[in-house]
Order: sequence, then C-alpha cells, then structure tokens
Amino acid sequence: MSGGNSAGGLTVLIMAAGEGTRMRSTLPKVLHPVCGRPMVAWPVLAAREAGADRVAVIVPPNRDLTPGLPDGTETVVQPQPDGTGGAIRAAHDIVRESETVVVLSGDHPLITGEIVATLLETHRAADAAATVMTVELDDPGSYGRIIRDAGGEVERIVETKHPETVPADELAISEVNTGTYAFAAQPLVGALDALQADNATGEYYIGDVLPIYREQGLRVVAHTASDRNVNLGVNTRVDLARATDQARRRILERHMLAGVTIVDPASTWIDAEVEIAADATIEPGTTLRGRTAIGGDSIVGPHSTVIDSQIGEQARVVTSYLDGAAVGDLVSVGPFAHLRPGAALAQRAKAGSFVEIKNSQIGEGAKVPHLSYVGDAELGADANIGAGAITANYDGTRKNRTKIGQGARISVNTSLVAPVTVGDDAYTGAGAVVREDVPPGALAVSKHEQRNIEGYAKRKAKETDGADER
Ligand code: UD1
Ligand code: MG
Repeated sequence: MSGGNSAGGLTVLIMAAGEGTRMRSTLPKVLHPVCGRPMVAWPVLAAREAGADRVAVIVPPNRDLTPGLPDGTETVVQPQPDGTGGAIRAAHDIVRESETVVVLSGDHPLITGEIVATLLETHRAADAAATVMTVELDDPGSYGRIIRDAGGEVERIVETKHPETVPADELAISEVNTGTYAFAAQPLVGALDALQADNATGEYYIGDVLPIYREQGLRVVAHTASDRNVNLGVNTRVDLARATDQARRRILERHMLAGVTIVDPASTWIDAEVEIAADATIEPGTTLRGRTAIGGDSIVGPHSTVIDSQIGEQARVVTSYLDGAAVGDLVSVGPFAHLRPGAALAQRAKAGSFVEIKNSQIGEGAKVPHLSYVGDAELGADANIGAGAITANYDGTRKNRTKIGQGARISVNTSLVAPVTVGDDAYTGAGAVVREDVPPGALAVSKHEQRNIEGYAKRKAKETDGADER
C-alpha cells in the first residue's frame, strides 16, 4: 500500500448524527436492534472486517450512542445536524490523517465487510479519487440520482427530497446513491471546506464534494452493487422490519452453510451473535437470542426461545423458554420448561414439563421431571425431585438456599423450606414439609395425619337432594 504522508491508511467514517425523527422513538434510531445487534454496530463491524485501520462514528451532541458501539469505537461529535456533508466535516482532523476514507451510514445495517471490500477494489482498479456506490432501482423514490458524464464517470448527485426543484429527466434516472463512498483523503480535506448549503434543504451534502473533485481534474466513478439491499437504509420502522428480515435470512444461511439444520427458516429467528455447532438442528418456531451458543447434535425446538444461554452437545430443548441458563451435554429440557438466569444443568440432567429453575446447580444426571419450582438450590448428582416438589426459597425478605445431596429422592409435593439441606441418598415422604436438615440416608416425613370419615359420600348426597327439593 502507498503510505504517502498519511499515517492513518484506511479510515471508515460512519455517519450516525442524523435526527432519525421518522422512527418516532425515544431510542436513537441507530440504537434500534437488528437481529439483536444495535443498527450502528453493523457498519462498524463491516468496517473492521474490511480491514479498516481506523473506524470513527459521527455522533450527535445530545444523545449517547455508546451503548450501541462495539468496544474501542472512536466517536466524533457533529455539533449540529447540518447534513451528511456536515457530518464528515466534523471529522475533518481524522480525514487529514488518513489516506483513504470510506463513508458509511449508521442506518444501513446490511452493509458487509465484503461489500466495502468490493467498493475499494473498484476504487483502486479505476484509479479513482472518489467512488460512489450505487444501485439501480425500479422505483428510485427520494434517493439521490447519479448523473454520469458521456464517458460514464460520475458528474454529480442530485438530491430529490424536494422533487419539484429537480428537472424531470434527472428525476427519471434509476441509478441512485447508496450513501456509501470511497475517497482519496487529501482532496477531501479541501472539498469539505468548499461545500455549500445553497440547496432546498439548507444542508451540506457529502455528495456535493464529487463535482469539486472533478474541478480539480480528479477521477470520480461509480461502483454499481448488484445487491439492492445495500441500499436498504432504515428511516422508519417499516424499513427496520425489512432490513431485519434481510439480516435474518443472511444469518440463517450462514448457519445452514456451516452445517446446522434449520427445519423451517421462515419461522426461525437467530440473533447475529448466536453460535451454533455443526449438526445441531433448530426446529420450527424457535428464537435464539443474544449471546447464545448451541453445541453439536443438539436439537432445539420446536417452539423454544433461548436467550443468552449455553447449550451443550446432544442436548434437547423442546418447547421451552431459557434465559441466562447453562445446559450441559445430553441434557433434556421440556416440553414446557422455564430456565431462568443462573440455572445450570450438568451433563445428562433433566428439567421436564412445567418446571421452573433459577439460580440453581442441577448435578450430573439429576432430574426435575414434572411441575416443580427449583430456586437458589443445589442438587447433587443423580438426585431426583418428585412431581410438584417446590423449594420455598423466599421468606418474604430474603432468598435462601436449598441443598440436596447426591442421589437424594425428594418425593412428590415436598416443600423444601429454605435454608435447608437434604443429605446424600436421603428421602422425603410424599407431601413432606421439610424445615429441618435431613441427615444423609434418612427419610423425612412431616406430620399430616389422615382421617377417613366413613359414609361421607352418602351423607353428602342426601344434603344435596334436600337442597334440590327446596
Ligand atoms: C442520503 C443521501 C442520498 C442517498 C441516501 C441513501 C445525502 C444528502 N443524501 O439520503 O443521496 O440516496 O442517503 O440512503 O447524503 N447524518 C448525519 N448528520 C446529519 C445528517 C445525517 O450524521 O446532519 C447521517 C444519518 O444519521 C444517516 C446518514 O447520515 O445515518 C444519512 O442521512 P439521511 O438523513 O438518512 O439521508 P438520506 O435522506 O437517507
Ligand atoms: Mg437514510
């Protein structure tokens, strides 16, 4: 690469200081998530993937975008929203220190490192000083139109937000500006200073630097992208749904090509950061969100939602809801289980139907098969919890822990009133209310005597008959 006198090499500037009013949201537009990742993080990651030496996001002065920015992202404040030209002008000092500047938009989440790389290839191959990425659209709408000269080089961009000010032949042009550009940095420094805002909106347009380049005898070309989605900028929530749909398809395809079976892509939602090993199967109606990871040969779904959870190999998660859980190899979850933050199931453990587990360690091979709440508990290996057994972990003020030893057998409807410990290989009786620790190997029963009232049914029937006669 030619270094010149500029140390910065390739800089990517991402414009994200616009107002985004058409979203009608208190959340800044570029922080809206697209497949679980903030919109603005998509172009930042694309820039890094394309090998940028420096990535800076142009941000507004009054809203904090840092929650949406990957660690280590540089920001530059644009003091007022005076247009895309104003945005790049705010990064004047960075431009000066760069060799090549690529401009992206924070509201174009479908940009990829590969697309940026192809733009740069065209830019270099054409020996251009500026290259604008364009697409052909059947309905060019209010996008900027590309005016080419007789030789096919780019003359200028015509903004069309006020179509009444635009000649009909220019409005009819179907090649539009995607808002993505590559610039030789040094000419950009002067061109930014020369920008005028004498147009229908009174804003500075970054596209207006192109004729300034040409006046200096510099070459300006277009890189026409074949994928129209690169132009899918998000201005409204309708656009947000469209962009999300595209991003989602790409994510699904990436996993399928990497060896994951996705039985019904149409009903499967997978966030951008989710990791899935080869030979896992994702059944219909499943949503995998956040920092979720799924091991090989596991089957997730149908109808499961898994958020920020780790699932091992050969596990099954059927019709269940997992949030912040860790599920080991060969574990069986569901149908209809709810695993909450801190639920950790070791190898071969089981959480069955209508079972809720939170902040608990379930030992290897331990089973909670039916109708239980297990909270703030520790189950030893191969412990078994009978149907309807519950940890009473909350005394109204404090959460208390329940400890159940290895191989313990907790019978149906046992109430474990925490803090309490059941020793290894101990038993509880059906319906026991366990308030005191149970020694290893013991059986805990609690008194609830049964009395049989003879002839009750007959007496009851008589009473009812009498009631009818009245
Ligand atoms: C822009 C282009 C248009 C192109 C279209 C493609 C201009 C003037 N027009 O229009 O030619 O067809 O993108 O989607 O460039 N921003 C700032 N500071 C500002 C204004 C905007 O940082 O003062 C940022 C926005 O946050 C956004 C990006 O620049 O990320 C584009 O701004 P937007 O207002 O959406 O421009 P478009 O109307 O889409
Ligand atoms: Mg836009």
